[in-house]
Amino acid sequence: MAYPYQIKSLEEYQQNYQQSVMDPEGFWANVADHFYWRRKWDKVLEWNFKDPDVKWFTGGKLNITENCLDRHLGTLGNTPAIIWEPNDPEERHRVITYRDLYNKVCQFANVLKNNGVKKGDRVCIYMGMIPELAIAVLACARIGAIHSVVFGGFSAQSIADRIQDAQASLVITCDGAFRGNKDIPLKSVIDDALIGCPSVKKVIVCTRTRTPVSMIKGRDLWWEDEIKQVETMGNPPCPAEEMDAEDMLFILYTSGSTGKPKGVVHTCGGYMVYANYTFVNTFQYQPGEVYFCTADVGWITGHSYIIYGPLSAGATTLMFEGVPTYPDAGRLWSIVDKFRVNILYTAPTAIRSLMGYGLGPVNHKDLSSLKKLGSVGEPINEEAWHWFKDHIGKGRCPIVDTWWQTETGGIMITPIAGITKEKPGYATLPLPGIQPILVDEKGEEIKGNNVNGNLCIKFPWPGMLRTTYGDHERCRTTYFATYDNLYFTGDGCLRDEDGYYRITGRVDDVLNVSGHRIGTAEVENAINMHAGVVESAVVGYPHDIKGQGIYAYVITERQTHDPELTKKDILQTVSRIIGPIAKPDKIQFVSGLPKTRSGKIMRRILRKIAEGELDNLGDTSTLLDPAVVEEIKRSRL
Ligand code: WTA
Repeated sequence: MAYPYQIKSLEEYQQNYQQSVMDPEGFWANVADHFYWRRKWDKVLEWNFKDPDVKWFTGGKLNITENCLDRHLGTLGNTPAIIWEPNDPEERHRVITYRDLYNKVCQFANVLKNNGVKKGDRVCIYMGMIPELAIAVLACARIGAIHSVVFGGFSAQSIADRIQDAQASLVITCDGAFRGNKDIPLKSVIDDALIGCPSVKKVIVCTRTRTPVSMIKGRDLWWEDEIKQVETMGNPPCPAEEMDAEDMLFILYTSGSTGKPKGVVHTCGGYMVYANYTFVNTFQYQPGEVYFCTADVGWITGHSYIIYGPLSAGATTLMFEGVPTYPDAGRLWSIVDKFRVNILYTAPTAIRSLMGYGLGPVNHKDLSSLKKLGSVGEPINEEAWHWFKDHIGKGRCPIVDTWWQTETGGIMITPIAGITKEKPGYATLPLPGIQPILVDEKGEEIKGNNVNGNLCIKFPWPGMLRTTYGDHERCRTTYFATYDNLYFTGDGCLRDEDGYYRITGRVDDVLNVSGHRIGTAEVENAINMHAGVVESAVVGYPHDIKGQGIYAYVITERQTHDPELTKKDILQTVSRIIGPIAKPDKIQFVSGLPKTRSGKIMRRILRKIAEGELDNLGDTSTLLDPAVVEEIKRSRL
């Protein structure tokens, strides 16, 4: 498959960028023309950021799976779509061709139909990283059901919140998942979650770990049995449901600075065009290349760059069940070696943790197949960038440091591999179609170079979120109300003397722990669930491997006799309410928190203390009780 919209040179990048700003509609119509539409759109773009109301390709009809599967069958039927590497290196890997994948998706889509799933229904997917996860996602899209994938590390309570918010009618899960030396009992977590979820009528369970599970009669079904049913029906085809460009494709929950996670909504047409365009261009994908993204499908990176981007481009996408350190810290390099991987897309936190093992696990691995490297999820520090460049890319592979968000649907600011310049620590330049601006506190644009500000986007792009599920007002206030007529990213950003962008981190109360987004309010709420806790305040602090660590200041009812035990209890509570990924790295017991006279916690001060900047706390005179700061400083961890 050739990509006529693939940028081939620096000049072409500049031309395309210019065109995308002068004539955005013409620009995106040209890209969208290279997809399979049942019916062409009437209008490329209608928008305002006030409501907000953004529509791309209105009147267009399509099904994203026809673009990911059907249209490739003629030319790529026998080409690997998914290569799957299991957690255990001794187990056999699997290669699924485009034809196999098409058949399996149709089969499972028929399973969903047999179980009453219809267009517009919400389906929650809670599975490990096995090909059936991709099949489940695509099967939903095939019949127009809206998938909501929940990362396997979330607790029963978190799943229940997400299922209730989306009013999902069906859950797809596995008996368990293998991750490193762990065996995660997914089905039993789902059983706990479903106690409070009457909307769920059916649960389909795929066999993976053979962990014993209890199956509830009338509700729980085995994936394999349901497939047999479809086989006895003679494996009927499953025509793709015709979707409107603006029909919902999926919901993905993500954390913000307040309240519970919100369901970011992406729609069929714009998301497809954007995921594909950004994949093909950023990585400069060439037909036949083996592409390996180490993310989990539970996050947006897995949606856009394991499934939809690569498959819509007819690429070969490698899916890995396990973790980079199992059975040893050379696992990713062994996989590169084994499958002759050409493109590796991973996260700074993984690179930093692998750096810690030295070069032993890298030596003797043949990494000569690698051509392009990518990083995503958090700022990459220069040390990690150079290690990646020198020891993995052997100095010959470009690195794309891709900045984007769940809400943006796809990559926004990034080098284009081998075409635009890279700069360690910088996401560099916007892709065509993306118009970033920096603003100050008042929302005034900060012009010129060598400046710092809050990163906003001033014009719509096809992959942007359309709403937050069931609560459009929340979408408006979170992203479009801070600054008039701008999408606010929540990130701080620097533009250097050359006009390159460097993301400096969140400016709101959202943490980025090992590339996972976690709201401080969410962690506080979870800690406060512990019976002995009166109040808590959570901030981030720099962490060598995770990027950011979680620091919790906690007030307990009485002096605890055994602080270590209380800490353990609190960690368990957080695990139970959110999941192990949100467990604080440090818990400091305090007798009070620094508050303003109006009762607002002064997080700025707590952040400084957590970072160890004790002499630089700024003005504390407006505090209700300045003495509490001295106490917190003294007992700092
Ligand atoms: C951060 C992940 C610096 C940023 C795709 C953003 C980054 C948040 C980068 C979104 C990068 C992501 N450099 N920071 N290359 N990529 N971020 O929604 O703070 O899980 O707002 O999407 O991660 O996280 P999310």
